[in-house]
Amino acid sequence: MERASIRSYTLRGDRMTRAQSLAMSQSWDKYCVEIKSQLDLSQIFPDKSQVILEIGSGMGEATAAIAQANPQTGYVAIEMHAPGLAALLILINQLELKNVKLIREDATYLLANFIPDNSLAGIHLLFPDPWPKNRQHKRRIVQSEFVELIANKLKPGGFIHIATDWQPYADWIRDRFAANLKFTGGVVDRPSWRVLSKFEGQGLRKGHLVTDFRYVRV
Ligand SMILES: C[S@@+](CC[C@H](N)C(=O)[O-])C[C@H]1O[C@@H](n2cnc3c(N)ncnc32)[C@H](O)[C@@H]1O
Repeated sequence: MERASIRSYTLRGDRMTRAQSLAMSQSWDKYCVEIKSQLDLSQIFPDKSQVILEIGSGMGEATAAIAQANPQTGYVAIEMHAPGLAALLILINQLELKNVKLIREDATYLLANFIPDNSLAGIHLLFPDPWPKNRQHKRRIVQSEFVELIANKLKPGGFIHIATDWQPYADWIRDRFAANLKFTGGVVDRPSWRVLSKFEGQGLRKGHLVTDFRYVRV
């Protein structure tokens, strides 16, 4: 699969703070995963019992907090926005995390080409860009093809947790998962492990309701 011409992310530029630039130059090589062929997750995290992929880690607040609370799980954060990845590197260094790796790539392209089938224990998709206008809906990362793709990448019993603060996107997500027989699940209470990110805080201040979903691969 080629990289899609329709992007689910915005190209926001790579301007970084001094601390972010420093983290990139000092720590990127240590924590990034080079992708040349199919990833061997057991090689990336030889001592971890399971691997969870976080799609669109943003500034990394949730990634770092979740990884700190679950040291036996390996986390791979995928993000296109370099300053966000640098912000996560700063948190990894501050918290001395040993269970996070980073990839700068389009998550759909990465999943389709480099993540082995039946390999993931879970996927976190926290506050995917909502693309609210009708003509932008094709840019939403959750599409029927995406749901089918992740069904193949999750182990049986594996899960995807999704949170969104955009009600029409919540309806859209529910419909697409309902149409795929490889998943069971739906709306769940906000889990205690999901920390408040800057992005979620902005939505809440605008009065948005947040919906959490958990779907399990049958
Ligand atoms: C609205 S932000 C939410 C960030 C973070 N998860 C949070 O809760 O604060 C969505 C993020 O997903 C990233 N993103 C969107 N599509 C992506 C893709 N196909 N591959 C990797 N990252 C993507 C964007 O760059 C952006 O940083």
